[in-house]
Amino acid sequence: MSNELRIQRMLLPDATEHFDRIVDLLQELYKSQREVYPSLSVDRGFLLRRCEGLVDHLRTDGAFLWGGFDDSELVGFLWGYERSFVGEQRMHITEFVVTESLRGHGLGRLLLDVATAEARRLNFSAVDLLCSVHTRDTLRFYDKAGFIAERCQLIKRLDGE
Ligand SMILES: CC(C)(COP(=O)(O)OP(=O)(O)OC[C@H]1O[C@@H](n2cnc3c(N)ncnc32)[C@H](O)[C@@H]1OP(=O)(O)O)[C@@H](O)C(=O)NCCC(=O)NCCS
Repeated sequence: MSNELRIQRMLLPDATEHFDRIVDLLQELYKSQREVYPSLSVDRGFLLRRCEGLVDHLRTDGAFLWGGFDDSELVGFLWGYERSFVGEQRMHITEFVVTESLRGHGLGRLLLDVATAEARRLNFSAVDLLCSVHTRDTLRFYDKAGFIAERCQLIKRLDGE
């Protein structure tokens, strides 16, 4: 790790330049989530389509993307978008990851803080996201950052598990 981790807002050219690295980081994220969601696809084709979706959103409807850099290497990112929920405008975080070897060094908090500051600047009412109840470490991270539970997703399995 270099002395300084830095955060940068990423626009379309940045996402294009770092596209392969975004795919790799998304793969890390999904792999870490597979204990909770075994059916989650980490197939390269699926991840590529997801990242192409990000690029499309950056091109057409102003998705938010911030990157965390260690020197020139992209080591984490936060992808969010504006959404309307129960009559208020919010920033919804849809993908958020820091590479495993650099977790716990403050980069995730920096990314979350910069996204929150932008949501505040745009007069959004809140920042929200979905998080599995089984990822206790991540829940503790959000708890420290001031997030509280708002809704609860219920599931009844039909596959006998
Ligand atoms: C969640 C995640 C983005 C956080 O990024 P990070 O860089 O590791 O977090 P930070 O180092 O900025 O931690 C910020 C605070 O959370 C705390 N924290 C971080 N990881 C923690 C853990 N595993 N358990 C408890 N607290 C933790 C830190 O101690 C720090 O608190 P402090 O400011 O009081 O010291 C990162 O761990 C990650 O990518 N996890 C896997 C993917 C994931 O779960 N993404 C979110 C999907 S909803």
